[in-house]
This record gives sequence, C-alpha cells and structure tokens, in this order.
Amino acid sequence: MHLAFLNPQGNFDRADSYWTEHPDFGGQLVYVKQVALALGAAGHRVDILTRLIVDADWPEFAHPEDRYEDAPSVRIIRLPAGDTDGFLRKEDLWPFLVRDWVPNILRFYDGKLPNAFTGHYGDGGVAGVLLRRTTGAPFTFTAHSLGAQKLDKLGAGPDNLATLDAQYHFRYRLAAERLAMNHAGVIITSTVGERLEQYGHRAYEGAVDVADDSRFAVVPPGVDLSVFGADTTAPDEGTVRQVVDHRLARDIAPDRLHLPAVVASSRLDPKKNHLDLVRAFAVSGPLREAANLVIITGSLDDPLRSDEGAGETERQVLAGVRSTVEEGGLSGKVSAFSIRGQSSLAAAYRYLAARRSVFALTALHEPFGLAPLEAAAAGLPVVATKNGGPSESLRDDSTEYGVLVDPEDPREIAAGLQRALGSEWEDFARLGRQRVLDRYTWDRSAAGYVEAIEQAVTSPDRTLLPIDPFFQNPERLLGIERLEAYFPG
Ligand code: F6P
Repeated sequence: MHLAFLNPQGNFDRADSYWTEHPDFGGQLVYVKQVALALGAAGHRVDILTRLIVDADWPEFAHPEDRYEDAPSVRIIRLPAGDTDGFLRKEDLWPFLVRDWVPNILRFYDGKLPNAFTGHYGDGGVAGVLLRRTTGAPFTFTAHSLGAQKLDKLGAGPDNLATLDAQYHFRYRLAAERLAMNHAGVIITSTVGERLEQYGHRAYEGAVDVADDSRFAVVPPGVDLSVFGADTTAPDEGTVRQVVDHRLARDIAPDRLHLPAVVASSRLDPKKNHLDLVRAFAVSGPLREAANLVIITGSLDDPLRSDEGAGETERQVLAGVRSTVEEGGLSGKVSAFSIRGQSSLAAAYRYLAARRSVFALTALHEPFGLAPLEAAAAGLPVVATKNGGPSESLRDDSTEYGVLVDPEDPREIAAGLQRALGSEWEDFARLGRQRVLDRYTWDRSAAGYVEAIEQAVTSPDRTLLPIDPFFQNPERLLGIERLEAYFPG
C-alpha cells in the first residue's frame, strides 16, 4: 500500500532535531514517525507530508524532501503553506492549509495519489477532508488532542472565550475537528475511553456518534523495544548503574540499601500525584519495610534538598513531597535524582528490575499511559492508576497484567505496591512484559493502521456535514457564535 500521513504542524528530520523544544514538536511527531517507520518496515510505501519551514533557527526543515536512515520506503515531504516560509505555530496554519498546503499536495502527486491518507490533529484531519472532497481519496483521522478538552482545561466560559479564541483560534480548530471526525472513513483512538469521553463532548454532537463501532478503531501507540526492551543494552548501561548506586547511597540509609525500589518516573506535576505515592509510604509500615521509594526526574539532580533548576509547578510538587517525607519519618527511605533521556531511563529500569523493584504511576488520570508500559517492557511489575488508559492496557476480562489502584487512596496504593513487591512479583513482571510484546509495540500499531485504513477504504457512503465556507475559501472567516453555543458557561 502507498500511504501518506498529513501532519502540517511541527516537522520531521532524520536526526529528530528539536523534539520537545517547542510545543508543536512533541509527542505527536514521535507517534507519526514510529507508525510510519513500522509501516515502511512492513513493506508499505509511506510519505510523511509536512510543511516546508525556512528558518535559520531550524535549518533541517528547509529542504523539500528528506529520509530516515535505513528506511528507504519512508519519505518526509515538505510542502509550502503560508505567506512566509518561516515557522508558523499550529494555531496560525488554518487559512494556509486551505489556500496552499492541500493544493500543493495535489500538485505534488499530480494524479498519482496514495491509496489512502491518514490525518493527524485537527489540521491534518481537515486536510484529509479537503483531499477526499477533491479526489475521493479515503482517509483516517487521529486527533491526538481535541480542542474541546483543551478549552475545558482552560476553564472556557462566556467571560474568557473570546480571549482564548483570539490566542488559539479555537473556532477554526473545532470546526476542523468536527469535519475531520465526520468525514473520516475511520477515527483512530488510543483507548476506548478516549473515544467515549473525548469524542462524546457536546462540542462534537452531530459530528460523530460515539456509540457507532463502525466509525472507530482503537490503535494504541507502542513502546520502543530497541530502547526499553528487557534484553536491550544502552550505550551507557554501566554508567547509569553507577549513577543509580551513587544516588541511592547519597539518599538512602545504609541498612536499607539492599531493599528493592518503588520507582516513579513522570513530570513533577500535581496531576501526576507523587504526593499520594509518598503518603502510601507514610501510612504503611509493611511497605516501608519492603522497599524504598525512588523518584526519577528528567533534570533535577537532588530535588529533595534543592529547588535548583525547578520551575514553579515543580517547586509546588516538591514542597508537598518534602513535607510528607519529613512528617512521615521517611528520610533515608526516599531517593530522588535525575536520569536524562529515554535510553538511560531504560537502563535504570533494567537495573532496578534486577533488584526486584516495581514501577508506580499514581496519576489522578492518565489518558493513555505509555510510561508504565515502557517500565513493564524493561522488566518492572507495574502499579498504576485505575483512571484512564491503564485500566485498558493492564487488565482484560481474564487477566491482571499489573495492579490498578485508586490514586487518591494511599492505603490502596500501599496494598497494591506490597502485592507487586511480594510473591506475585515474578508473575507481574512476566505478564506485564508479555502484554507489551503482544499489544503495545509500534509494529502492532502499524498493523492496526493497515486494518483501519482498509476499513476506511471500504466505508459506506454516508450523509456528511457540509464543509464550512472558510474551508472552501479562507477569506470567508468563521464567526464565534458556534463556539459560544458549545461553551455557554
Ligand atoms: O506534538 C505536540 C502534541 O503532542 C500534539 O499532539 C499536539 O500538537 C499538542 O501536543 C497538543 O495540542 P494542544 O495543546 O493544542 O491540544
């Protein structure tokens, strides 16, 4: 099959330059790249269509065509969109998709179109709508993040809607998303929960029926086994072990250094709820006897003692963690340090797994939860929040692949951790790892895309929402009224 990914925002290059350095160069790029490479490895021809950016700060994005090393069947194609060739943030792309980017895609293929397109985010999705309208080419839609939930998180209501819209151009984003989900042959989500909760928002009423199985496919993202595999060896595997030993010796009482660890590794953000994990140690004597707590951060080397390098939100989390450690008598039982980069993190997981440690993620809500699956791949049994994706990835009708806990109940967290640390450690380590190998690899994601695309190609004709005037002629601006109706306060 010949497939094309529609991903106008961000950009791709063979060295993954600038990933995470800008909000538009984040997780979506990792996802698109990995699925594209896995599809290429499975024998498909793949184009990643993105935007040409001529910017002295990002010189890698200025050439019309690029390729990844060792992936001869995957092309990165950069096509102009906009009055400037310079970088445009994703919120400013809308008119240029219609005016330039989609026509440039049509010119690029010159009648020899791919078998199908797959649109990513509202912008890639609406490009799929326009390509389908012009050529009949089928497309799938993967939202990654939907505008209605972002508006909810920003507390949208009558008082601030116009301000938020002025900054983020939500009126166009929501109109694009409604069209994309309505016109797509298949909508791809990472979990069933994403489909029901996010697409079920009132802002998408009339565009999609979340009860209609024929419109959706669940295709989860995958763990990079070349990094997180239990049998992989990182270039700095030995150095990472030394760093872990050194930090544990710094923070943990000498008579406890032989104990396994409960490992937490996520952003220091209140939503990740480190606090209730620390409280679990404070309330449970048996847990304290069984293990130490190890909090891994991306860049803070000694966050139990120093705020150096921490942002405002991180300081807030650290203040709570430190006072719980103090009040709970946990000093010498908790260690916190930095491991930089995925490959070193995986090496730390493998080292700690060899000491019968477990991984904990007690986030209040986790939309998908790739981190626990990465830890499971590396050999750590997992204890994770029951709210969100882990409830689908770590449990099915017949099997527990990890322990699910109420993240706001320290006693339940403690009991779950003791279970994973106890006689079931081997079972959870084996089952969790096998679960990842069976269901959460990028090869599986690619196979899911092929199935979804085949379904999109044969999807029956339906009555579709009319395309808003703006997406036919971007001089015909959209009003804010519809947005106001979705967020009445
Ligand atoms: O790659 C960046 C990303 O992960 C994309 O999914 C999306 O562009 C963005 O983060 C989240 O988008 P938003 O904040 O606009 O919902």
